Parts: sequence; C-alpha cells; structure tokens
Amino acid sequence: MTNPSPILLLIGSGAREHAIARAITNSDRPHKLVTFGSSRNPGIELLSDSNTKGDINDPAEVSAFAISEKATLAIVGPEAPLEAGVADKLWEHGIPVVGPIRSLAMLETSKQFTRNLMADYNIPGCPSFRYFTNLFGVAEFLEAMGENYVVKADGLMGGKGVKVSGDHLHSHTEAIEYCTELSAAESSFVIEEKCIGEEFSLFSFCDGKTLKHMPPVQDHKRAYVNDEGPNTGGMGSYSDANHSLPFINQTDIEQAQEINQLVVEALKKKTGEGYKGILYGGYMATAGDVKVIEFNARFGDPEVMNLLALLETDILDIFEAIGNETLHEIEVTFKPKASVCKYVVPEGYPDNPKKGFAVDITQVKKPDQLFLGAVDQKDDQLIATGSRTAAAVGVADTIEAAEQEAEHLVNQITGDLFHRPDVGTYGLITKRIEHMKALRR
Ligand code: AMP
Ligand code: GLY
Repeated sequence: MTNPSPILLLIGSGAREHAIARAITNSDRPHKLVTFGSSRNPGIELLSDSNTKGDINDPAEVSAFAISEKATLAIVGPEAPLEAGVADKLWEHGIPVVGPIRSLAMLETSKQFTRNLMADYNIPGCPSFRYFTNLFGVAEFLEAMGENYVVKADGLMGGKGVKVSGDHLHSHTEAIEYCTELSAAESSFVIEEKCIGEEFSLFSFCDGKTLKHMPPVQDHKRAYVNDEGPNTGGMGSYSDANHSLPFINQTDIEQAQEINQLVVEALKKKTGEGYKGILYGGYMATAGDVKVIEFNARFGDPEVMNLLALLETDILDIFEAIGNETLHEIEVTFKPKASVCKYVVPEGYPDNPKKGFAVDITQVKKPDQLFLGAVDQKDDQLIATGSRTAAAVGVADTIEAAEQEAEHLVNQITGDLFHRPDVGTYGLITKRIEHMKALRR
C-alpha cells in the first residue's frame, strides 16, 4: 500500500543525501521531506520542508525526532547510523526504514562477518582469506599468499584500514609491522588475496527478498590525475549509456548481480532478517571471474549522483516498496544515458585539507546538477569545511559528452579547490580497457 502523502525522514547531511533529497523532491507524488543531519547542508536545507541538526548516530534521538515529525518512512544515508542501530530503533517504533538493521549492516561494518558469510554460503567471488585476532600464523599465511596480499582492519575505519601489497605494503616485514600495530590496538584483521583487475560498483535496491539492480558505475578513489596520490572517499565516477562499462562485459555484470542476490539470501538464512535498503557491491573484474572487494550497506558517494540522475522510476515508489516488501511489483528503470560526476575538494585534501575558505557556486549554470558536500553557510557565503566540497554531474548520450558537461560545471565553482579533470576522459578509460584486455588475453 502506498501512502497518499508520505512524510519522509532523510538522515545524513552530505552530498549523497543532497542527491537523495533532490530525487525525492523530483517525485510527482505529494510528500513532505524532513531532513536530519549532523551538520548543516545548505543544499539539503533548500529542498527540505524542515531541516534539523542533531546526533544522527543516537537511535533514541533519531526515533524521537521521527515520531515528533510523524514520519511514515525513513531513509538512512550514511553507514554510521546503521552501525549504531538507528534502523532497528525506527522499526521498533513502526517506522519503515530504507537502510538495513544493525545485524545486517555488518556486511559493511565487519570484514570478517562478510568473508565468513561468503565462505559459509558458498558465494562465488570470495578471495582466499584468513581472519586473525593476533600475530599467530600471520607470517605463514603471508608466505602462502606470496606477493599479492591485502591486510584489512576489522570495523568501520573510514576507508583507512585497508593496506594493499605493492601500494602501501612493500614487504612481508612491513605487513607484519602493520598487523602488529592492529593487534596491539586490539583490532582483529583479515588478510586476503590481492585481486588484480579493474574495480566497479554494482548497487541494488533490496526489500529483503527482491533485488532491483542499478547500472554499474566506476569510482576513482585516488586523489590525483592518473590514479596517483592517496586514497580518498572518491573523486568522481562515471556510468555508460548501455548500462555496462567500457572495460567489462555482460558476464561480469551478471556475476555481480548474482552475487548481490546470493548475499541477500545468505543474510536471510543466517539471521532470519531481510536486508532492506541499498546494497553496494564493490567488485573487481579480474582475468577470471569477478571478485568481491567489499560490500557497503548504503549508496556510494559519488556513485549515487550518477545513478539518481539516471533513475526514471519515482524514488518514492521504490523507497515505499522497500519498506513494504513489494519491490517485485514495480519496474525500476534508468535512462539509457551516460553520466560523469566530478568532485571539487579543498587544496591539500585528503591529508591536510584547507578549511574555512569561501566557495562560490553562483556561476554554476545548472544548479540542479550540483550537489553540496562539506560546506557550511555564513550569511550569504558558502564556507568549505575540509572534506569533499561539492560535486557536479553531467548526463549525455556518451561518456565523452557527459564528461565535458561535468568538467564545465565543476569549473564554474570557485575557491581554493581542485578536482580530477581526467575522470571520464578517453585517455583514462582507454587505460582501463587496455589493462583488462592484457589480463584476459
Ligand atoms: P575496502 O575498504 O575493502 O573497499 O578497500 C579499499 C580499497 O582497497 C579498495 O577499493 C581496493 O582498491 C583495495 N582492495 C581491497 N581489497 C582488495 C583485494 N582483495 N584485492 C585488491 N585490492 C583490494
Ligand atoms: N564511493 C565510495 C564509497 O561510497 O564508499
């Protein structure tokens, strides 16, 4: 049953939530949008019927707020409130939630949980791995892995807990040093096989049983042009008009879709609970089958900006179907267009970002294609607060044209900022295609 006039509570205050808020506002159906974030986001504020600041990771505070606003459906943007049990608490109060309960969000919050789930339920795409709580057996396991290994700290580390051989770790000695550090900090960890290939993200809407897959997207984690520099939250992303990516094939996509489906089924068998929300599969296309790098329990940022710019189906219908377990009744479609998203970030980001400077977006000619991230507003002035500042999305018939539009728009944003002009360009994509060709020769 759809609600004739739903009251939606959107939790979170980043660019991801700005994109979700915009998709909600684009709905043809009457609704009210109430937003609740840990910081102020002037972009979200503008789209909200009411906007409140509070502790999004406090289940009691969020649910009390939801009740006071008479919310009929809640959407949780980021992972931290899911880990804190915000979805559990809202369901307890009878408010359906887009975003899994805590025991299922462990798919993102615990590397060990996910690798064990995959192994226990024979889900394909799992690299060889072993879980450690101390150094016992680490040297032997590394020996067995040889040159290609990854050490992952368990738990939510904001993307900082993963160290990859060749990239961050240059010898078994360095790997053991990192494991010693983790073990001293009483953090358990997983060591796994390093997969070689090209990464892509495959998202699915899930109501606990039915999955509706979205087109694959590729994110760019490195800070600088040509995939150099430190890892970031993501500097930009693209998707293609044919709902594939130039360096993968239909089999890769079908394998990733199948793995997303199998994971939701395995979660149900293991916990008895249905995964309701967005499932984010982080995949690597390799010389052989696709491999699972990680799962997240939410929309990706920046990938959400590509996907929601292309979504044709009314997002209110999808969100309600997730809450009501009726996703099988609706068709979810995306425009047959390419999209490119580019972030502008403060100079010095991610290690030593400049903060507190003015950002001017008034010259951006297509403000509906702009999303605000880490910015505050003082009087009429936007102020950068240090993390990823704002993103622009281009949508067109080809990646090339979408790239030009995104590039044009980010260049209309001024401040002490930089971006990656190479995201979505022919040169970078050709490198990915050549890499996959060489691996699959
Ligand atoms: P994660 O937090 O698990 O997504 O890891 C962060 C990044 O580390 C990923 O985006 C990959 O680039 C890399 N990574 C993680 N696991 C692996 C793996 N098994 N093989 C190769 N690269 C990996
Ligand atoms: N696109 C990276 C993330 O959302 O985790």
